Amino acid sequence: EIDPLVLFMPSGKRGRFPVGTPVLDAARQLGVYVESVCGGRATCGRCQIEVQEGNFAKHGIVSSNDHISPPGPKEKRYAEVRTLPEGRRLSCSATIEGDLVVDVPQDAVVNAQVVRKAASDRVIERNPAVHLCYVEVDEPDMHKPLGDLDRMKVMLEKDWGYTDLQVEPYLLPQVQKILRKGNWTVTAAIHRDSDTQRPTIIALWPGLHNEAYGLACDIGSTTIAMHLVSLLSGRVVASSGTSNPQIRFGEDLMSRVSYVMMNPDGREAMTKAVRHAVSELVDQVCREGGVARTDILDSVFVANPIMHHLFLGIDPTELGQAPFALAVSGAVSCAARDIELSLNPGARTYLLPCIAGHVGADAAGATLAEGPHRQDRMMLLVDVGTNAEIVLGNRTRTVAASSPTGPAFEGAEISCGQRAAPGAIERVRIDAQTLEPRFKVIGVEQWSDEDGFAEAAEKTGITGICGSAIIEVVAEMYLFGVISTDGVVDGGMAAKSPRILATGRTFSYLLHDGAQTITVTQNDVRAIQLAKAALYAGIKLLMEKLGVETVDTIRFAGAFGSFIDPKYAMVLGLIPDCELSEVKAVGNAAGTGALMALLNRGHRREIEDTVTRIEKIETALEPHFQQLFIDAMALPNKVDPFPRLAA
Ligand code: FES
Repeated sequence: EIDPLVLFMPSGKRGRFPVGTPVLDAARQLGVYVESVCGGRATCGRCQIEVQEGNFAKHGIVSSNDHISPPGPKEKRYAEVRTLPEGRRLSCSATIEGDLVVDVPQDAVVNAQVVRKAASDRVIERNPAVHLCYVEVDEPDMHKPLGDLDRMKVMLEKDWGYTDLQVEPYLLPQVQKILRKGNWTVTAAIHRDSDTQRPTIIALWPGLHNEAYGLACDIGSTTIAMHLVSLLSGRVVASSGTSNPQIRFGEDLMSRVSYVMMNPDGREAMTKAVRHAVSELVDQVCREGGVARTDILDSVFVANPIMHHLFLGIDPTELGQAPFALAVSGAVSCAARDIELSLNPGARTYLLPCIAGHVGADAAGATLAEGPHRQDRMMLLVDVGTNAEIVLGNRTRTVAASSPTGPAFEGAEISCGQRAAPGAIERVRIDAQTLEPRFKVIGVEQWSDEDGFAEAAEKTGITGICGSAIIEVVAEMYLFGVISTDGVVDGGMAAKSPRILATGRTFSYLLHDGAQTITVTQNDVRAIQLAKAALYAGIKLLMEKLGVETVDTIRFAGAFGSFIDPKYAMVLGLIPDCELSEVKAVGNAAGTGALMALLNRGHRREIEDTVTRIEKIETALEPHFQQLFIDAMALPNKVDPFPRLAA
């Protein structure tokens, strides 16, 4: 007689097991990750699974709850005391009695809340670097003079298979008290980043401890975003963000590097500022999630190279000048306390690797999240900030570069430009005939031509125009003939519309005439042209490197990408021609990458390996870049066709 066949979902792993095998053991043998803290004693409740009933003809399995053992006394007791949701079973207690399709519930679904405007929900399979392991330790015996810690290690090896365990020295003075307090039962948090690394006991609690959390954090030059996540369920329990206090030392990255160069205490002050902000965010997410700091055992960070260096306390001066040398490009793994992060005293920190001097761990995070290296199709991944970080590739080959777009896309260097904040115009439409505009203001429900707009706008004011609206207004001006292919505001249109104003020798478009006059000037159009030409030239350079004429799919990462309309990005030629439905904003993809690396240490190896294989292109060293830049100044472009745009 052949053994029953068991299929685990969503991983799709399958195998045959003798009748009577606990489902948890089967999962272990197949490498399916099912959490378990109590080691199969039916007390932690972390090993829950669900049987999918039905005829899975494709797999040759008829699965039913009759093919799993009924709840035994231990499981019944757990269900009574702690309650088990309908249909859920404890996989450590339930045994295989026939063919089964077993669902391992994945709470770690990164949903739209976490990744704003995410292209799709994604399930992160869990396999964190830190595990909780409960053991019952033998009491001391005069005849066997083995230390308390050593007897605990024996049980951790016996019950959990951990050999060659190290222990964080800070725990040594506490071991005896903890063991006695727990009446010879203890929960150990064990950190192991990879299978080749020695496992380390990083924390201990008396008795059964059933809480373990981690942080995933993206340190941007403007904002810092953090998620607090249960390492046991994968659930995001709280998320928060704050502005980067380093802004007071300089708006953009280069001005912060100059600050360090000019001020002897500059580096220290900025490191302190960012660490302080991170610590305050930890307070916030802990409060919101009702979690104690000491239950946070792991943390993962992504950041651009300069933020990455400053956070680690490294002087970023070398990144301000050629050859843009990183102090460390590989992933960094250390104790959280080493970077003054006070979580559990044994908590760990991991920073994703940086790709190049201008393409940081944030781009690595976005790459991990969107996965060009997992695709057959050619994917373009763009994160637009003061520098655009660009990754292009597929399964076989991936290249990356950054391009100096400048701050125009963020509203800086634009006459009426401002950051995206209440009062900023964020959307613009122009009437093709009359050239009259209608627009939307951040913080105001209605469009400017709708009822109630005036009263509502009274509160916020109309203070300026932010990045997304600049792109839209310039694109609309171009579409309706107000600006030429070369980007010249056409004075001839002044006869047609009072919106076209002469300002000296050039012309402007009057977008709003109120308490504050908001115009789009010839210089503004130029600034946008320069920024978009830099972005496009960078993309084009990478396309040439890979020898491709088109890309199959485009992902816009970052805040800017969430707000711009792909259609307008293409009208202006920010991005190459592509099916519009294939252009997607993916929100904070870098943060999603951090979350993936937090919840599954396999993703750490994946991105480390991918980053070493990514070919780094330095735009400043490419003689051809200048020509590509000049060609890209025209709207949408001088040399490249945009067939899908015409359609
Ligand atoms: Fe703890 Fe099953 S492993 S309840």
